[in-house]
Amino acid sequence: MGKALIIGAGGVAGVVVHKCCQNSDVFEEICIASRTLSKCDALKAKLEGGRTKIQTAQVNADHTDELIALIRKFRPDIVINVALPYQDLTIMDACLATGVDYVDTANYEPVDTAKFEYKWQWAYREKFRQAGITALLGSGFDPGVTGVFSAYAQKHYFDEIRCIDILDANAGDHGYPFATNFNPEINIREVTAKGSYIENGKWVETEPLEIKRVYNFPQIGQKDIYLLHHEELESLALNIRGIKRIRFWMTFSQNYLTHLKVLEDVGMTSIHPIDFEGKQIVPLQFLKAVLPDPASLGPRTKGKTNIGCIFQGVKDGKPLTYYLYNVCDHQECYREVGSQAISYTTGVPAMIGASMVLTGKWKKPGVYNIEEFDPDPFMDALNRFGLPWQESFSPELVD
Ligand SMILES: NC(=O)c1ccc[n+]([C@@H]2O[C@H](COP(=O)([O-])OP(=O)(O)OC[C@H]3O[C@@H](n4cnc5c(N)ncnc54)[C@H](OP(=O)(O)O)[C@@H]3O)[C@@H](O)[C@H]2O)c1
Repeated sequence: MGKALIIGAGGVAGVVVHKCCQNSDVFEEICIASRTLSKCDALKAKLEGGRTKIQTAQVNADHTDELIALIRKFRPDIVINVALPYQDLTIMDACLATGVDYVDTANYEPVDTAKFEYKWQWAYREKFRQAGITALLGSGFDPGVTGVFSAYAQKHYFDEIRCIDILDANAGDHGYPFATNFNPEINIREVTAKGSYIENGKWVETEPLEIKRVYNFPQIGQKDIYLLHHEELESLALNIRGIKRIRFWMTFSQNYLTHLKVLEDVGMTSIHPIDFEGKQIVPLQFLKAVLPDPASLGPRTKGKTNIGCIFQGVKDGKPLTYYLYNVCDHQECYREVGSQAISYTTGVPAMIGASMVLTGKWKKPGVYNIEEFDPDPFMDALNRFGLPWQESFSPELVD
């Protein structure tokens, strides 16, 4: 059916490439392009020989002109951006210049400010509409599947959803004293930032990790959860009818938090450049260089993730509670695609989102968040491509 240009060759990209190859009726041809060509070639070597044809290319996605040249050469129908959030705008500019659809999994963040907001990407709405191309923002798990779950709950079960609690639990153990499950720089920027949630239409800001609860997750058990700021709060607040409160919670072990605190206290998580032996370095980027590569955690990580949303609202005048979640096993993911579950739960929805646009199911000129589309075909695809969902109408609530 079509051709996809995949930008990035890290943990998430590896899963996207596997999943595109499993869906070769839609992805007839892919090009894996990233900063380090050898990583693209390694992915190609692992997967070529099937029905999806694979090419590779070197590209610095910070440079729109390089991206435009690559797009003109490969002529994809869609670009799947699984590089870093810093590259979102240069890649969107290249898609605009060449008239190609766009999908990503994380919203734009300037390198020098640890703050993620949709305003930069939403500013492209009119340009994409006029160009007749689609940008699908945030097609990972969270954001991504959490938005699809919200649209599904709204469409099938509620007249109004009043509260959403997004719960992201990782009970995986990789055996290292400290490592992050996706890009360490992006992960640590997210966790050390101030928390926030939406209450009665207003943002409420908290100190980093200030609010803690304990939650008993299906198939995982009791975990400490901490309230974080997260990008889908911003779009769900606009797109879900009647919403009064949205919060995002993530599990962290005491061991992870103790290491992070020490690193923070000694200045290793700073994003401000310092002089080191005549060279400017960013402490957090140096820390990333010495931490285990998330793409290497696959064979070591044991345990499960559970990510989902608890919805509270009304149907026919009566209160209703509904919990939708997915449980994913790190080792099963590794056996299937050679990655741990965090990369897997992001890469599968990225491929599905791209296939929704490519097959025309979600083709609509403009820039959209995932919950703005019909959730049903995406929910079916989650069951078919390795992220089956489960539901409960009497879940434990977060107080
Ligand atoms: N929505 C979700 O649920 C979710 C969850 C997890 C992650 N994510 C997002 O997924 C994305 C990928 O995460 P990951 O864990 O796969 O990260 P990763 O392992 O660090 O991979 C990032 C890849 O992007 C490449 N890259 C970085 N800068 C580039 C540039 N200027 N030009 C070309 N390529 C560049 C890197 O190249 P090198 O190999 O040369 O460094 C690397 O291959 C991130 O945006 C992350 O925020 C989303």
